[in-house]
This record gives sequence, structure tokens and C-alpha cells, in this order.
Amino acid sequence: MWTLPRAFAVPLGTKPARCWTSPIPKRSISGCTTSATSSTKRSRASASAPATTTRSGRFPPSCSTSKTQNSSRPQPAGRSTAAQRSLHNTTTTTAREKERDSVTTPNSAQQHTPRRIDVRTASPYPVLISRGIETMIPPMLEVTEGASTFLIIHQPALAERAAHVARLLEAEGKVAELLEISDAEDGKTIASAERCWDRCADAGLTRQDCIISVGGGAATDLAGFIAATWMRGIRVAHVPTSLLGMVDAAVGGKTGINTTRGKNLVGAFHEPAAVLIDLDTLKDLPREELIAGSAEIIKAGFIRDERIIEIYEDDPTEALNPAGDVLPELIERAIKVKADVVAQDLKESYIREILNYGHTFCHAVEQQENYRWRHGQAVGVGMMFEAELAKAAGLIDQELVDRHRNILRSVGLATTYRHSDFDTLIEVMGRDKKNKQGKIRFVVLEGLANPTRLESPSREHLDAAWEAISE
Ligand SMILES: NC(=O)c1ccc[n+]([C@@H]2O[C@H](COP(=O)([O-])OP(=O)(O)OC[C@H]3O[C@@H](n4cnc5c(N)ncnc54)[C@H](O)[C@@H]3O)[C@@H](O)[C@H]2O)c1
Ligand SMILES: [Zn+2]
Repeated sequence: MWTLPRAFAVPLGTKPARCWTSPIPKRSISGCTTSATSSTKRSRASASAPATTTRSGRFPPSCSTSKTQNSSRPQPAGRSTAAQRSLHNTTTTTAREKERDSVTTPNSAQQHTPRRIDVRTASPYPVLISRGIETMIPPMLEVTEGASTFLIIHQPALAERAAHVARLLEAEGKVAELLEISDAEDGKTIASAERCWDRCADAGLTRQDCIISVGGGAATDLAGFIAATWMRGIRVAHVPTSLLGMVDAAVGGKTGINTTRGKNLVGAFHEPAAVLIDLDTLKDLPREELIAGSAEIIKAGFIRDERIIEIYEDDPTEALNPAGDVLPELIERAIKVKADVVAQDLKESYIREILNYGHTFCHAVEQQENYRWRHGQAVGVGMMFEAELAKAAGLIDQELVDRHRNILRSVGLATTYRHSDFDTLIEVMGRDKKNKQGKIRFVVLEGLANPTRLESPSREHLDAAWEAISE
């Protein structure tokens, strides 16, 4: 069992940095490794590295106490720091200076090692998990070695956290630029991408430099896409701040923006250099977002990790508590499921498809609701439909269907859906981009943590599933 996080004093002028003290024994599954004290030396595949970037890919055995190579790099003359630029107008110069002076560099604070999951794709990268971001900056700087300018793309609600990241980078001798984007899907437009590219140019971002996203999945998607396309690909580090961003969007290398014709129609596979998860950010996340993000964790449980399901059944309240120690375990488990799956199949030729459990029906709901539903709510009802479909097809029993309904309800996710015309939903599902050869394709379960595919189910089975979940 995980112990409660232990606080330690770091004079940041914000919350004290915290991290777990309970070691989880190092264990390895095929695609990822979790370790609190990994000392493995790794090389990032040169194929994915920008041509002019030198990357040793070495990741420190623990939080380094030495400065990075560029730490003595002076600020360009006449340039104000991002911290200064980001502070509210009401802050006096003296207060700004005080705040800047109070920034404790990651190497001067008492340090604990963040927890770490290695995503073992062709270009392996670490997912670091901690309370407080400070301890994750040195390892991030290791994997982005050679970068001197960082463009931090963030959502409006995360302005303060982004400014804090900027101050930490500046304390390490880096140039940090802040770019606020519009919230949620408004940030994933072509106009928004163009603004980002312009800012990359204005900041003089070279192939050695790095983009950092700070925000939910919409921010990681956009920033990842900008990194994939700027100078044909530069490095990106994600700092996901929503639960969905942490367990899903930031890991796996999918990036994208929307067009007027549809969601996520333009994008690229572009894996991050690192993912930095500061669990403390979840304390600010609206509860509805926490609930929505839980759907992807529950999905990871049903397709691969039975323990996740047991944890939700044992204590659904704690599973939604960002200050407790149950949610961090769930987050780590869900990330491991995703890391393991994408390590085997980055570009979704077959195995990665299982991550789409619940998503065929979910996409139809989202489309019919003009994307006003939270994704997680649509995933919840999607899993419910697809569980009922599997039961109708004789693949799973009533008990496993009930476990879906009980868990989803216990955390406040939707299990029913109202729509006057099931034929329309079938038609929309028939257009899903995941379909092959014009056949509707569902990921379904044959048992707990045992996913399979169901192609072109009979109308009778579809009707039975609809009957069970329609209001
Ligand atoms: N690339 C992938 O593999 C992948 C996977 C799943 C989803 N996505 C994408 O992710 C997006 C959905 O992600 P999301 O649910 O995180 O949405 P989001 O990014 O819109 O964030 C949801 C809301 O929470 C706010 N928020 C985020 N963190 C906060 C915090 N710590 N405190 C206060 N407010 C905070 C945001 O400002 C926003 O208003 C969609 O665009 C989806 O397409 C991508
Ligand atoms: Zn999803």
C-alpha cells in the first residue's frame, strides 16, 4: 500500500514540494518499467532526434544535484525573464525581484526522487510523477540536453504554474518564454497553431530547443503538434495538469488539432522527450474534470489491470481524492497500461486498438452532442454500451456488465444515454475512423482484462445493448 506523501520544505513562495516516500519494488512489464530509483542508462533512438541535436539520453539515477551544462548561460542582453513578464501587472518590481530571488533551484532543495515509468518505444522516454514539479526539472533538462530556449505553451488556468516552470528553468540558466493559448478545444484551432508557430519564430526556437506544454489534453495535443511540425520536429516535454491529460493524452505520442470539418483531423505521431506529472495540480482541477478523467483509468482497468477495478470497487471516494494516496496509484497503473500498449504498437496497427475500449460508441455520442459532453462521460457510456454488446454476443456474463455499471456510477460517470434515433448512432459509428473495410469495429471484452475485437455485430445484438443503456 502506498504511504501518504511526505512534505518537505522548499521556499518557493507556493506550496511546499512533496513526494512519496513509499518505494514500489522495481518491476518490469514488456513495454515499461517503474522505478523510484532507476539508474538505467538509456539512449534515445537517433532517428527521432532532430538532426542537429546532441542527446545523450542519459537519465540520472536520482534527482541530480549538479547544474546542467548550460546552467551558466547568461540571459540575452535586454531580455526580461518569463517570470517577470508573466507576473500580474499589480505586482511591484520589488515583489517580482523577491519572488525571483526566492526561487529555489532544483539542485539546492532537499530532493526526493520522482517516481518514474519508462515508455519503451523506439524513442524511449520517462514519465515522472511527483508532488511538486521541482524535482522533475533536472531529469527533464537531462533528456532535453542542448536546449537553451523553452517555449511554454499553457492554458489560461495554468498561467501561474507555467510561470513557476519558467522561473525554475531560468534559475537553471535557460531562456523560458510563455505563451498562453485559448482554453480547451478553442486552443486546438489552426489559428491557434499559427500563433504558436509565429511565437516559435519570434523566440528564435531552433532544432535544439524545446517546447513545454502545461495544461490538459488540449494543451498537450496542440503543443505536441507544434513541436512535431516546427522545423520538422523539435522536442516537447509535457506537463499534463488534468487527470485525462496525465493518464492518456500526454503519453503515447499522438498530437493534433481540429479543423472546421472535425476533431483531431490533422496531427502527427510525435513522442515527448519527457512527461512531468505534478499531482498537486489536480487539487485545482474542477471535480467534473476529475470524474471525466477517471473514465480512462477505469478503461485501463477493464482492458488490462484488474487491480484498478478492485481499487475503484473498494473505495470510489478515495479514487477521486487528489490529496490522498489511492489516486496516485491509479494514475501510475493507468499510465503503465498505456505505456505498455504503445511500446508494443505506437501507430495503432493492432494492439493499441484496445485503448479504444468504449470509444466507438463514445465518438458517436460526442458527435451527436456537438462535443459538449466531456470526453470521459462519453467514454463511460461507451464502455457501458460495449459491455452490454459483449454480453449480447455471449462474450461476457452479467456480473462483469454489472461491475461496469457499479464502478462508473460510483464515481459519477454516465451509464445511460438518451437519443431518439439509434439508427443515426449506428450510422455515425459506421463512419468511425477506426473502422476497417467499412465494417463497424468494437473493442469488447471476453473477460476482465481480456480485450478482443467484435466486427460487424448483428443488429439484434446492437439493439440489445441499446435497449440496456438507453434512457
Ligand atoms: N493525444 C492523445 O492521445 C489524446 C488522448 C485523449 C484525449 N486527447 C485530447 O485531450 C483533450 C481533452 O483533454 P482534457 O479533458 O484534459 O481537456 P482540456 O485540456 O480542455 O482540459 C479540461 C479543462 O480543465 C482545465 N484544467 C486543466 N488542468 C487544470 C488544473 N490543474 N486546474 C484547473 N483547471 C485545469 C482546462 O483549462 C480545461 O478548461 C481533447 O482535445 C482530446 O482530443 C488526446
Ligand atoms: Zn479517450
